[in-house]
Amino acid sequence: MRKQIAAANWKMNNTLEEGTKLLNEIVGSGLQLSDNQCAIFAVPSPYLISADQQVAGNSNMFVAAQNCHHKTSGAYTGEVSVDMLASINIHYCLVGHSERREYFAESNQQLAEKVDLCLSKEITPIFCCGEPLSIRDENIQNDYVAVQLNESLFHLDADAIQKVVIAYEPIWAIGTGKTATAAQAQEMHAHIRSVLANQFGNAVADNVSILYGGSVKGANANEIFSQPDVDGGLVGGASLIASEFVQIIKALK
Ligand code: PGA
Repeated sequence: MRKQIAAANWKMNNTLEEGTKLLNEIVGSGLQLSDNQCAIFAVPSPYLISADQQVAGNSNMFVAAQNCHHKTSGAYTGEVSVDMLASINIHYCLVGHSERREYFAESNQQLAEKVDLCLSKEITPIFCCGEPLSIRDENIQNDYVAVQLNESLFHLDADAIQKVVIAYEPIWAIGTGKTATAAQAQEMHAHIRSVLANQFGNAVADNVSILYGGSVKGANANEIFSQPDVDGGLVGGASLIASEFVQIIKALK
């Protein structure tokens, strides 16, 4: 059975003190996660070790990196490698967030390399995809997302793809307060699952968690997560408020 996941993406927010307090509030809120549910916190790199210590002992809570480099090591000043992440016990990493694609010109090919490196170190890539508004306006979002999946994930075999989490994040809904409707989310998630099924077979596609991202908050999480092909969310703004993110975790199926 595929996992239901609430993933927080703090982006470049929170001092260490603020982040520690936020995570403590969430961890200490008495959440009861079932075996097929988990909460993941993608924190800024300087806090990975301390955040991991804060969630330690909560079997369904994990810390994620927000990015990794697409090369193994070397002269890449300022970058973080998957070896480094593995060496500090980090088992999740966001890959290809739209902000990285846009501001750091990450290509589908580079993201394929990041996915491979993550998997080689038993780090689950949370692979982000999703279309800008211009593509949605032309109603060609299905093809656009299929190309992203194809160029970054379809070199994997059936075993490996089941170790990837996909996050569909329509760019026009990120940080804008403009959420996709539950029906729009379901439609794209079903499309993504059918694209996976064509490539890897139905049983494999059924095992892949597909998260929705884009202005998820406590008030809309239930409706979005209740869609059959939506397996939780990747949450930016609302993950910075403990009570909001707790409500989002509670909305998991
Ligand atoms: P948002 O961000 O929840 O603030 O829209 C989501 C994301 O970028 O992952």
